[in-house]
Amino acid sequence: MAKMEVKTSLLDNMIGVGDMVLLEPLNEESFIDNLKKRFDHNEIYTYIGSVVISVNPYRSLPIYSPEKVEDYRNRNFYELSPHIFALSDEAYRSLRDQDKDQCILITGESGAGKTEASKLVMSYVAAVCGKGAEVNQVKEQLLQSNPVLEAFGNAKTVRNDNSSRFGKYMDIEFDFKGDPLGGVISNYLLEKSRVVKQPRGERNFHIFYQLLSGASEDLLQKLRLERDFSRYNYLSLDSAKVNGVDDAANFRTVRNAMQIVGFMDHEAQSVLEVIAAVLKLGNIEFKPESRVNGLDESKIKDKNELKEICELTGIDQSVLERAFSFRTVEAKQEKVSTTLNVAQAYYARDALAKNLYSRLFSWLVNRINESIKAQTKVRKKVMGVLDIYGFEIFEDNSFEQFIINYCNEKLQQIFIELTLKEEQEEYIREDIEWTHIDYFNNAVICDLIENNTNGILAMLDEECLRPGTVTDDTFLEKLNQVCATHQHFESRMSKCSRFLNDTSLPHSCFRIQHYAGKVMYQVEGFVDKNNDLLYRDLSQAMWKASHSLIKALFPEGNPAKINLKRPPTAGSQFKASVATLMKNLQTKNPNYIRCIKPNDKKAAHIFNDALVCHQIRYLGLLENVRVRRAGYAFRQAYEPCLERYKMLCKQTWPHWKGPARAGVEVLFNELEFPVEEYSFGRSKIFIRNPRTLFKLEDLRKRRLEDLATLIQKIYRGWKCRTHFLLMKKSQIVIAAWYRRYSQQKKYQQIKSSAIVIQSFIRGWKARKILRELKHEKRCQEAVTTIAAFWHGTQVRREYRKFFRANAGKKIYEFTLQRIVQKYFLEMKNKMPSLSPIDKNWPARPYLFLDSTHKELKRIFHLWRCKKYRDQFTDQRKLIYEEKLEASELFKDKKALYPSSVGQPFQGAYLEISKDPKYKKLKDAIEEKIIIAEVVNKINRANGKCASRIFLLTNNNLLLADQKSGHIKSEVPLGDVTKVSMSSQNDGFFAVHLKEGSGAASKGDFLFSSDHLIEMATKLYRTTLSQTKQKLNIEISDEFLVQFRQDKVCVKFIQGNQKNGSVPTCKRKNNRLLEVAVP
Ligand SMILES: Nc1ncnc2c1ncn2[C@@H]1O[C@H](COP(=O)(O)OP(=O)(O)OP(=O)(O)O)[C@@H](O)[C@H]1O
Ligand SMILES: [Mg+2]
Repeated sequence: MAKMEVKTSLLDNMIGVGDMVLLEPLNEESFIDNLKKRFDHNEIYTYIGSVVISVNPYRSLPIYSPEKVEDYRNRNFYELSPHIFALSDEAYRSLRDQDKDQCILITGESGAGKTEASKLVMSYVAAVCGKGAEVNQVKEQLLQSNPVLEAFGNAKTVRNDNSSRFGKYMDIEFDFKGDPLGGVISNYLLEKSRVVKQPRGERNFHIFYQLLSGASEDLLQKLRLERDFSRYNYLSLDSAKVNGVDDAANFRTVRNAMQIVGFMDHEAQSVLEVIAAVLKLGNIEFKPESRVNGLDESKIKDKNELKEICELTGIDQSVLERAFSFRTVEAKQEKVSTTLNVAQAYYARDALAKNLYSRLFSWLVNRINESIKAQTKVRKKVMGVLDIYGFEIFEDNSFEQFIINYCNEKLQQIFIELTLKEEQEEYIREDIEWTHIDYFNNAVICDLIENNTNGILAMLDEECLRPGTVTDDTFLEKLNQVCATHQHFESRMSKCSRFLNDTSLPHSCFRIQHYAGKVMYQVEGFVDKNNDLLYRDLSQAMWKASHSLIKALFPEGNPAKINLKRPPTAGSQFKASVATLMKNLQTKNPNYIRCIKPNDKKAAHIFNDALVCHQIRYLGLLENVRVRRAGYAFRQAYEPCLERYKMLCKQTWPHWKGPARAGVEVLFNELEFPVEEYSFGRSKIFIRNPRTLFKLEDLRKRRLEDLATLIQKIYRGWKCRTHFLLMKKSQIVIAAWYRRYSQQKKYQQIKSSAIVIQSFIRGWKARKILRELKHEKRCQEAVTTIAAFWHGTQVRREYRKFFRANAGKKIYEFTLQRIVQKYFLEMKNKMPSLSPIDKNWPARPYLFLDSTHKELKRIFHLWRCKKYRDQFTDQRKLIYEEKLEASELFKDKKALYPSSVGQPFQGAYLEISKDPKYKKLKDAIEEKIIIAEVVNKINRANGKCASRIFLLTNNNLLLADQKSGHIKSEVPLGDVTKVSMSSQNDGFFAVHLKEGSGAASKGDFLFSSDHLIEMATKLYRTTLSQTKQKLNIEISDEFLVQFRQDKVCVKFIQGNQKNGSVPTCKRKNNRLLEVAVP
């Protein structure tokens, strides 16, 4: 959607009139009233045609914001309420689009807001012109030149806390696209007298205070300065501090700005050194000293300050000291030196300080110009901004005011020329008949001042150059002669008798009737100030400084370039620079900003009518309006005019479909204005009287009211209807919504109940299923567990051998096996002999084999015993059996037994079969003979022994005679009941027979044999095998033996050794037979 364009006009919401041209009636009073009314409503800008009047609000207004910049950007001049931005925009656009160089002339008295206005113009242009890194740097440098110049060129005065003490004209250069390229600054007449002396309540230039407040201790020390203002004569002390001004912070801003503008560090330092030198110059004091020739000579009181200045500037102290004491005048190759008295010395000192400062200022301007100079040689479009001191009328007006007012006179001149020219050109352009306009032309006043032959400045120069005594009075005299007849010159001493009795005009003054009012000038100081004399000795001393900046400031001090010609006077210099400026301005399209100061108190909201009236007068603003209105008061292009007033005519309302001009013509015919009241130009309608315009505006206003009522009526109707429809619609919507809501609620209730029931049932069902499922799951789990265990067991069984857990056992078993194996193999090698009586057995290697080892020993022993036994024949076996029997019967019972063990049982000791003497005996015995031996048969009567052959067969026991072999007794074994013997080591034994048997008639037998054990054993065995009865064998040391009918006791006693080693038997009595056993 295209942006809706709001057509506005200066005429909308006007407070008073925005353009003074429209003021009705036009007079001073209404003019001031209008300004005041607007001022009270914060409308500080008012137009006179294209001229902007600006009233200083003395407070910050919210009308310079970036949004405002955007508002005024690319808008027509009369489209919005008056603003400095509108003028800036107009100037910039006409420069950019129509290739017209512009100049913005800002005038007004001190404190009226010129400098602020110039900054506003610059910042507006900077905001709307091109962008980009390079362009921004140029803009920044141009804007930052302001704080630097303000620090060095501005000072606090009674009228303005930041009063510009120099005139400034700045050309901003643009390329064809309207991007800034650079700039050139020209400065005019710095008020250098301020350096050495300030009026009460005023200050020296800001930089001095800023330096002392803001410099670091270190910097101050370098500059040999002290922070205390009161140390310096050149600084006024009563108003050293300005309310709301932070000098220290400003110092930092200035240094920063210098850096941005492009000052090198050493350059900035040099500048501060010059400032320090100026300050210190003021502290040099002189005392008179009488000389022999009666002339007074001055001497420097305290040379310390001088020394420090010389150290700072690198000047030879003696050179500077001499320059303060002597003055050398050169004339026609002659040098004349005269001493200076104290007053002259002070004059010289101050002149030096002023010159140093003003030259430094000019140097600064040049240095800035060097930095902001456009870098390209392409053709540039130029916008000049002139911020120059306005017309000044003080109580005491001196040379400076004269010069300043001359400058303003020139500006007025150019204003008249350019405005009228422009006006005239517009009429021609628009093809409107030109009527001559009568206005006051101030060319005559300019001529009074600047005429080369008899102008006041020329007179002054003439006076200054004239040989002989020249004073301000001689100058005034001259003026009185030359200018006496001029209408704008007034003096009491002039030949013109008009002023002879005018007491308001003192004798030492002259008065000029400027275009803006009469100004009385005090003639005192004119000559001196015009001469602006600096003694050559001083400039030469400065030139000799090793400080390069100071040296450069005084080129005329170079003796090689000595110039005997006097330098141009201040007046002529100024005249020349003003002439150049005027020439420059004439080539450009002028834009005017007229600044007005509403009060003297620097206060907001106060509008002093008298003060404003005075300014309006000398600025010639009423004349300005008159000039503007001389032809046609108002003009406007056809399109906006038709747009604005088309509602006044039926044909043009609401749309006109032809060319705008035709529309306007129809409109004006319809309205029936007198024909002389308006003219149709090529592109504009010209209205002669503001009255007509206001009538138009009135009609428009009324028509607008009607239209507004109409619109209102329709709008109200529409609004009510739409409101009703909306209500109706709303009601339906609400009802629908409510029904829906209640149904929804009911439904929700049912639904939620259903859900509750449903949820219970579902819960119950679910729990049931859950239980079943849980059971099923448990079963499944059990099955799975069992299966798993079963599988586990199976797998473990299958894989147990692979299990590491079994390895221990396996290894254990294996190790055990190996140990046992080794044990057995070792045992094999260590086996003892096979002899059953060998007691050797290898040691047990391991404790755990203890039982095995013992068992093995036992088995081995049994085995070797068996082996041993297996070697025996049956015969030997029998022998052993008998031996074994013997052991059973007698071991440990009979003392004789042990000796028998080693004797083999031979049985047949007597070889009957071989001895022929026993042939008969042998034949008598058919049975096998078991024992055949010779025994001693104890005689029962005396106990004597008789040898008998003792034979034992299977069934009988036989006794035969040893010699004959004749059988004496035969006893069947069955009749033998018992065998008795002692327990001692004797061979006696008794064979008891069964009582009543045949053999028993003679009684029992008592024998002694060497083979008792063998015999008893065999007898026992044979009896056993024959009778199956065990033979009773009694072993006792006393037993009874049956002899025939008597029982005799056989008693064994311990016999003596003398009886021999053979036992002896002796019959003691009938009943006792004693056997003595050795
Ligand atoms: N548009 C403005 N808005 C707010 N304050 C302003 C404006 N214009 C001027 N002032 C105030 O007025 C003071 C004086 O303005 P400025 O320095 O511009 O005067 P001047 O005309 O340049 O005076 P001089 O001739 O002494 O240099 C400013 O310091 C500022 O406080
Ligand atoms: Mg200023």
